Amino acid sequence: MGEAHAPAPGFLHYGSARVPRGGFWCNDMTVHHQIFPVAELARGLSRHDTPALRRQFLAQNEFIAIEDFLPAACLAQLLAELPALEPIIHRNFIPKHKKGGSISRFALDEAAPVFQEFYRAPRFVEFLGEVVGEKLLFCPADDAHTYALYYYTEAGDHIGYHYDTSYYRGSRYTILIGLVDQSSCRLECQLYRDDPNRATETVSLALKPGMLVVFNGDMLYHRVTPAGQNERRVALTLEYVTSTSMNPYRRFVSNMKDAIAYFGFKQVFKVRRH
Ligand SMILES: [Fe+2]
Repeated sequence: MGEAHAPAPGFLHYGSARVPRGGFWCNDMTVHHQIFPVAELARGLSRHDTPALRRQFLAQNEFIAIEDFLPAACLAQLLAELPALEPIIHRNFIPKHKKGGSISRFALDEAAPVFQEFYRAPRFVEFLGEVVGEKLLFCPADDAHTYALYYYTEAGDHIGYHYDTSYYRGSRYTILIGLVDQSSCRLECQLYRDDPNRATETVSLALKPGMLVVFNGDMLYHRVTPAGQNERRVALTLEYVTSTSMNPYRRFVSNMKDAIAYFGFKQVFKVRRH
């Protein structure tokens, strides 16, 4: 194995190799690292009427779903990463609430940096900020949920009704991107549930490949209904915040939740040197 070296800020480390975040391999190690097609993504974004999406987002209790959002080249790039990730899926089970598989941002950074490139694509983050009406910030480097994959691949895989509560001092926005959907699972959302002046409306949708869903985690009560036999659903989740500040107790609670319900203690509490 290569000799130990101090990780340099701004680089991802793979054994003795290092990659500039969002960039290229820069030593003699032969690695086939794919670059996320950000130009295709930007071209796709330019066809949207962002002010109209913003109005729809507000009218729907800070929730919006857009079919065929992701350009084909971008979706193909993400799908191409999935076969190699199968061995690192972490299975979790909380009786009566949740069952499924997950891969944290830490594992994705090591195995498939293309997800980080997508997450950080400047025009994409700008677009999301225009839809939600906030300047969106990246989550801190120690947040396992910054970007992650969710797998519903066994009968009964699901998650019960919950909010994506923000443990940060500001808002937390959840982005879902459909990657694979050969399932009967439905994302079910209860709009206006906390509005005493409106009747609750339930939205039920299949998270089709390429679909984008954006919502305010504190506002949207939602669940994913159970998968059947021989079904498969893979979703990418991205999380952006309006403040990266979190008090230590809430950070501990958030990490415990991520360790138990999603990624395992080893992933969440492993000592990292950034
Ligand atoms: Fe959620």
